Amino acid sequence: MDICIIGAGYVGLTTAAVLADIGHTVYCTDVDEDKISKLQQGIIPIYEPGLTEMITENQDRGKLFFDTDSERYMAACPFIMIAVGTPSAKNGSADMVYVKGVIAVLSQTIRSPKVIIMKSTVPPGTADWMEAELQGQGVDKRLFEIVSNPEFLREGTAIEDTVHPDRIVIGAKQSEAAMKVRELYHTLQTQFLITDRLEAELIKYASNAFLATKISFINEIARICDAYSADIMEVSKGIGMDQRIGAKFLHAGLGYGGSCFPKDVNALNYVARAKGIKLNLVQAVKKVNRSQVDIYLNKITHSLGKRSNKPKIAVWGATFKENTDDIRYSQAIALMKKLVRKGYPVYAYDPLVSPKLSSVVWCSNPYEAVEQADILVLATAWPAFLKADWYKVKALMKHPVIVDGRNCLDKSTVEKYGFEYIGVGRP
Ligand code: NAD
Ligand code: UGA
Repeated sequence: MDICIIGAGYVGLTTAAVLADIGHTVYCTDVDEDKISKLQQGIIPIYEPGLTEMITENQDRGKLFFDTDSERYMAACPFIMIAVGTPSAKNGSADMVYVKGVIAVLSQTIRSPKVIIMKSTVPPGTADWMEAELQGQGVDKRLFEIVSNPEFLREGTAIEDTVHPDRIVIGAKQSEAAMKVRELYHTLQTQFLITDRLEAELIKYASNAFLATKISFINEIARICDAYSADIMEVSKGIGMDQRIGAKFLHAGLGYGGSCFPKDVNALNYVARAKGIKLNLVQAVKKVNRSQVDIYLNKITHSLGKRSNKPKIAVWGATFKENTDDIRYSQAIALMKKLVRKGYPVYAYDPLVSPKLSSVVWCSNPYEAVEQADILVLATAWPAFLKADWYKVKALMKHPVIVDGRNCLDKSTVEKYGFEYIGVGRP
């Protein structure tokens, strides 16, 4: 099949690579000229394990192309997949400005039958609204079907998640259109849920809100563990052994960040409010997540309380999670900003990024960051940090104190090296 993908971001690029790998001919387009020019030269503008290899392989075998000319490929391909951003607007709703931009081009382009697949995360009712918009702009309804096909990949494991998804959700008005989309994924061994468009749109928001809820829940339980000197790791393990609950997303730490949980929790809240429904649980999830950074801030200031003036803080990690270069809504950065506001000198290191942050000094390696530091905060669980040379780290630091923002270090190991270990819910 010939597929035109609109938007060469984390979702668009990953989906383009996997669909090309399946055997389709994929034309991935973006308005960002610099991005497309790099992609045409085989330079991948984002970090995602395995993505570069899959993209270049499929470029070489003539299955994957990048271009800025959306109109041309929309007109030529029977399948058009939309993967543009839907960031948070000021009022918490999903900002549909990029989707509207795509509709404007689509309305000028559709002259032959199209299946338009919505991959971006969008509010319930978007497919119906798009249909009305296109018709309103003069497009013959018999020429297109809009299908909702939400994406569930995680950054850092995007390829693996796309090749081995837990499920593929397809929401369509006509079963024929749903089957056409299902056929695109014919080589993937997974379960398919064919449903209506509204349900598909809601499944995406509800999934993200539920995962965010699990994280805030375990972070609150970690607070109880702190108070009773119980170990959250054991509690979490015991909870997760119940198959009705499941072991995943019960890892306590600095809380969730990223381009999706914060914005999608807000958007779900907004669509509920628009219908007069107050989501008490979702509000609480947000509140717990916001305060999680302060829990750490208090632990840090409490530990530094005994130290001389202007203690130096080393922070390892800036991305919102490991194995990505994405810093959108990163809790690591939220914490750094609060530390700076409190007047602490912050020396930071991340394997991939060094964003401009007032009063944060970026170091060229993790060891440089800890030189003469009074405390080390591990804010992102990058694999390299877990394998650090703790002997060297201890020798470089002024005071051997580690704050584990992701509860990801082996407490007894770092304690053996002589560090004071501070996590959440770790006695
Ligand atoms: P992104 O910001 O990385 O990429 C979006 C791309 O769309 C950008 O490169 C932008 O230039 C391009 N774009 C905007 N308007 C365009 C237009 N009119 N024509 C062509 N290109 C255009 O976004 P992302 O992280 O890939 O997310 C895309 C969507 O997928 C969002 O709705 C998001 O919620 C959802 N989603 C994201 C993830 C994730 O892990 N990032 C996972 C699942 C779902
Ligand atoms: C999340 C979802 O997991 C994907 O299914 C979804 O497709 C995506 O959002 C989206 O809609 O964009 P992502 O944000 O890439 O994926 O990464 P996650 O692995 O879910 O992590 C999100 C945040 O939660 C990170 O900051 C991570 O550190 C944190 N987290 C995760 C925890 O604090 N505890 C956990 O147990 C799990």
